[in-house]
Amino acid sequence: MRRITLTQYLVEQQREKGVVSAELRLLIEVVARACKSISNAVSKGALTGILGNAGSDNVQGEAQKKLDVISNEVLLEANEWGGHLAAMASEEMEHPHQIPNRYPRGEYLLLMDPLDGSSNIDVNVSIGTIFSVLRCPEGVTPDEQAFLQPGSKQVAAGFAVYGPSTILVLTVGNGVAGFTLDRELGSWVLTEPKIEIPADTAEFAINMSNRRNWSAPIIRYIDECLAGKTGPLGKDYNMRWVASMVADVYRILSRGGIFMYPQDAKHKEGRLRLMYEANPMAMIVEQAGGAATNGTQRILDVQPTKLHQRVGVILGSRNEVERVTGYHKAG
Ligand code: F6P
Repeated sequence: MRRITLTQYLVEQQREKGVVSAELRLLIEVVARACKSISNAVSKGALTGILGNAGSDNVQGEAQKKLDVISNEVLLEANEWGGHLAAMASEEMEHPHQIPNRYPRGEYLLLMDPLDGSSNIDVNVSIGTIFSVLRCPEGVTPDEQAFLQPGSKQVAAGFAVYGPSTILVLTVGNGVAGFTLDRELGSWVLTEPKIEIPADTAEFAINMSNRRNWSAPIIRYIDECLAGKTGPLGKDYNMRWVASMVADVYRILSRGGIFMYPQDAKHKEGRLRLMYEANPMAMIVEQAGGAATNGTQRILDVQPTKLHQRVGVILGSRNEVERVTGYHKAG
């Protein structure tokens, strides 16, 4: 079988489909290369002393892990000098990172969650890197305002999962493809040319410990899932919750399902970040035929008002997401 690498895939998207510029291709290749490097660091674990807390907090007031800090540095350094970016924003940094004057500037903005699934870093459970690419509006300084574009404006989004194998999921707005890292060759090999999420599912993912804080539509839906065959949905549901969004979403891309981190009485604005988590995942899920809402609105239509904004997230198999969104609209 002919092995297609990430570069070949991108060249084809550039040449035949016209959806990738040379600059965007370079950007994605650089991010993917940085993910190899993060994967390498993650896989060494305790051997290199990179587990545990860094002793600092991020902008959200959460304790940073050493690997959060390392991953952020790897991505910044890799992307600074190539000339494809106007600026970068990261979940780990309060303000956008400007490209130093000594390097050329490009037309794109990169947003990233350098290491998603922090609570799983030290316990050897899958974690990953999420990224999103926007175009910098012409003639403006790439400050925070330049990043505040709805997710529908993303030109590319992807994520890597550092699990039993290291994978990269990518969309450039023309479907979703999955690549597996061949460690011996150091290349990303196309292993899933066209990822599609089944419209129906019998598997849900939610942090059940938040139940007492949920709104009525979420309680209604989960109670119906738990009632299984004897309830209104007429089938038994299974539950999965890895607590790394990258792993939970990859499972949904692989076999369907619904993932929810809704707004609730404790997480009044939601728990996950709009710009670094919800938007890239929503683009990927929609490109794979699924749906993504905050309960009342398509996530990709949410107009951000601040960089580190949080949002409720309900995404995955289309019919199930529409059901839960319908329960919200019904009040
Ligand atoms: O935002 C980071 C993250 O680790 C996500 O990957 C995951 O879905 C969520 O937090 C889990 O949060 P909690 O353990 O608080 O439910």
